[in-house]
Amino acid sequence: MKKVFGVIGDPISHSLSPVMHNAAFDHLEMDCAYHAFQVKGEHLREAIVGARYLGFGGLNVTIPHKEEVLKIVEGGKMASDIGAANTIDFRRMKAFNTDGPGALDSLQDNGIDVSGKDVLVLGAGGAARAIVYIMAISGARVTVLNRTEDKSLALASHMSMFGNVTGKGLGEIPTDVSASDVIINTTSVGMYPDVDGTLVTSDMLDSSQVVFDLVYKPLETRLLKEARMAGAKTIDGITMLVRQGARSFEIWNDVRPPVDVMERSVRDVL
Ligand code: ATR
Repeated sequence: MKKVFGVIGDPISHSLSPVMHNAAFDHLEMDCAYHAFQVKGEHLREAIVGARYLGFGGLNVTIPHKEEVLKIVEGGKMASDIGAANTIDFRRMKAFNTDGPGALDSLQDNGIDVSGKDVLVLGAGGAARAIVYIMAISGARVTVLNRTEDKSLALASHMSMFGNVTGKGLGEIPTDVSASDVIINTTSVGMYPDVDGTLVTSDMLDSSQVVFDLVYKPLETRLLKEARMAGAKTIDGITMLVRQGARSFEIWNDVRPPVDVMERSVRDVL
């Protein structure tokens, strides 16, 4: 019988997850299907329990449910440390976070090892938590910059139990950017419709640096254009989206999916 997988979130209609997971299932000739389901916060528990007893193979969980899901399903160590999960495995009845590993895979697939490097994370929201955590446990020196400084200070204070993490405001951004090996944007600056927005410009960058933007709408953000102008290496948001999805796929199916097939399927629809 066909096995069903899905992603739950609100809003969810623009999710690219069905495209990439179904491409992987097709490629591997697995009798599975992946759908997007809009689920309101007040129905999160019923939706998860329902999916479990309907025999779902697994669920992704996205905005705004990534924190709340941990009150319903026990988190693995990484999800608990981060305080957010994006993947439910019904076999183990556990929730995992693949955002951090997906970001690390994105860097590794581009030949970048963050251990001992200065990594600058822009933003201190939900996406930043997973990124800061994975960078910290991977041995990077992490600086978190946020418009609302209190939030970067709080995030750094929490994450410093896992590694070397400092929090600051945006006040000295040119100096902080110049002093970093890897710059990761987790803010919504540059995301449609704010397509001209960027916190970092080419004059702050040079060709020794790596700029990684989690934003993928548009794919070619103003930040990535500025980075290329400076000769820096760039990594876009689809690279990350696909790799976090591939990590979820592996949790559910014990099979490493064809990341290249998943990536092509998503880039083709954009
Ligand atoms: P996500 O879950 O995607 O991380 P979020 O939790 O809403 O989303 O976080 C959005 C991040 O983008 C925050 O760090 C936010 O900064 P504030 O904490 O100061 O709000 C950042 N952000 C959004 N718009 C911004 C802007 N115009 N300039 C600077 N930072 C911005």
